Formats: sequence, C-alpha cells, structure tokens
Amino acid sequence: MDLFKVYPLLDVELESGKGVFVFDKNGQKYLDFYGGHAVISVGHAHPYYIKALNEQLEKLVFYSNSVHLEIQQKLAQKLGQISGYANYNLFLINSGAEANENALKLASFYNKRKKVIAFSGAFHGRTAAAVAVTDNPKIKPAINPDDHVIFLPFNDNVALEKTFKEQGNEICAVIVEPIQGVNGIYEASASFLEKIQELCHQNDAIFIADEVQCGFARSGKFFAHQFANVQPDIITIAKGMGNGFPVGGVLINEKIQAVYGMLGTTFGGSPLACAATLAVLDIIENENLIENTQKMGQYLLENLKGIKGLKQIRGKGLILGLEFEEPIKDLRNNLLFKHQIFTGNSNNPNTLRVLPSLAIQKEEIDLFLNALKKETN
Ligand SMILES: Cc1ncc(COP(=O)(O)O)c(C=O)c1O
Repeated sequence: MDLFKVYPLLDVELESGKGVFVFDKNGQKYLDFYGGHAVISVGHAHPYYIKALNEQLEKLVFYSNSVHLEIQQKLAQKLGQISGYANYNLFLINSGAEANENALKLASFYNKRKKVIAFSGAFHGRTAAAVAVTDNPKIKPAINPDDHVIFLPFNDNVALEKTFKEQGNEICAVIVEPIQGVNGIYEASASFLEKIQELCHQNDAIFIADEVQCGFARSGKFFAHQFANVQPDIITIAKGMGNGFPVGGVLINEKIQAVYGMLGTTFGGSPLACAATLAVLDIIENENLIENTQKMGQYLLENLKGIKGLKQIRGKGLILGLEFEEPIKDLRNNLLFKHQIFTGNSNNPNTLRVLPSLAIQKEEIDLFLNALKKETN
C-alpha cells in the first residue's frame, strides 16, 4: 500500500527532535521555526513532557467518557485558571477542525439558528461545518454546502453592522480567528472583535473565537483575543495545546447549557491527551513561557528591521508573518536546504510564517536572522 498524497513533500526525512531543533535520518540538525504547522509549543522531547506522558502511559491510556476521569477535571481546572476562563466549561476532542465543528454545533443548538458569519481569508478546518466557514472553495466538496455562511471582509466593522441590521435575528454565530494563521498572519483589530461581541450580544448570536493556531500563549497572551476587551462565548483550541499529541478543546460559556447526548466523542479527553496538555500548561507556567514569548517576539521584531525586501511584519509574540516584496518560495527553500531552518508558507505567496517554540532563545533567533540576512542581501 502507498500513502495517499495530500501535501507536496519537502525532501527531508525527520527522525528526532530536541528543544527547538529536529534531526534527519543522517543526523543533520535543523532549526525548527515552524513547529510542524504551529504545533510544537514547549519544544521537542521536553523531559517534563516525556515523563508526564510515560507516567500516564503506565497508569491508564484510555477509557471512554462514560466514567469519571480525574485527570480531565484537573486539566479543566488548570486551563481555567491559567487562561482566565475559570467559569467556562470544557469539551475535549482531538483536533482543531473538531473543536470548530463542535463550537458551531453548540451555537446552533443554543439559538436554533443556521446562518453563520465568517470572514475573508478564514481557515477553520476541513470537517463539514468547519470547512463551510473556511474561505477556500478548493477544499470544499459538494457534500459540504456553505449556503448558510455569509462571508464578510475581515476587519470591516461597517459590513458587519449592516449584515446584523438586515438579518440579525437569523444569525447563529460569528466565527473569527483573532490572528488569521493560514491566510498569512493577519490580526483582527481590537475594535473589530469588540464590535463582533457587541452585535452578537445584542442579537443573541454566539461569538466564537478560533484560537487553534494563535492561542495557547503563542501571541504573548494566553489567548490572542485577550488583547481586545472581549470574552467570546466559545473559544476553540488545539495545535500547541498538546505539543504534538492530538488534542483539541472547546471552552464554553455557562449560558450554553449541556444536555446529555448533544455532543460526544470516543477518543476526546483521553487520559494521555490530558496528561500531554497538563504537561504543556505546567511547562508554560514553570518556565515563564508567556513572558519569554513576549520578549523573544519583541527581539525578533527589533532585529528584523532593515532586512532587505521585507515589506511588512504582522502578528504578535511568536506568531509572525513576514511579507516580502517578492514571493518567498525560493527564500523558504534556501532557508531549509542551505541553512537548515524550517519556516512556513501561507496563502499569501509573499509571506513567510514564523512559529517557533515558545521556549526559543536569542541565540537561536540569531541563527534565523543571520540566515535571513544572507539570503536577502
Ligand atoms: C485557525 C485554525 N483553525 C482550525 C484549524 C484546523 O485544525 P486541525 O488541522 O487540527 O483540524 C487550523 C489548522 O491549521 C487553524 O489554523
């Protein structure tokens, strides 16, 4: 059997990782400024993370959600405390798409409506409801209709107000990435997020913040929406949450009441997934990674100034989009094959996506900066 080809592959065969580095089968070392689609948050093979997973592996790998699992309660408490959402409820699943899928279902269960507002450039995942609110016709088969979705321009308060004025009582939810990731790192303005909240509250629609890529401390706050004065009704998380272990979550405002049978999952919230997430939260806390993200993000910003051909830097903390005057395809390949540095691309052909581990240090950032300087001079 061969593998179904879903991504064009880079010609690298990775075998192991340690901290901010990964190694191929020949022992060649690479600096990881991408974390495999923004997944590696606390670093590869972190000893605390490995220990926590090993200990849980020996205790209990899995049981279904039909029994009490203490580690789930422990995770919900810790996440509530560190994120500032202690009064929300947590539903655990296995990926970002599943998180958004369930968020949209919850919104529709809540107000019994169907229309959803999403934005130009949005990426929310590939399952039915999530792909419908994603702004990319190429990944939408006929079986995933999106005629219930209203796509509005991102950061356009006027268009949002107009739509609510015309059909406010039909709007089920507004879903937004506080920092658009796949699109090329575009920040939602504070006033835009605040307007979404205001209109959702006025019209009993649900405000969903998709923090799958920009959340879990990557922006320099626990959630990127916390730069604005908002508290979304639902917050979705995944990626950095498990540092590579597949896990996702939905944080749900108390006003949305759970009814048995409404949602469900076999694997979601497995003891191993909880152990991985708890370890990530402990490491973020013990190693002051939120502060490190702010500092290292600032260091990157300051030292990126003057890079030739760099037109714009977008993003916050360690979720940055570097937009160049020219397409970045060759630059990205050169960084990888000449300097052994992984970076990401995006929907914007001129934008390099930079998503290193939150534990990155200045010396490692300098490796990236020096390589970038060599390639752009
Ligand atoms: C903002 C956002 N939401 C949702 C997803 C989907 O996550 P997953 O690939 O885990 O289903 C992604 C993935 O890139 C994402 O960036």
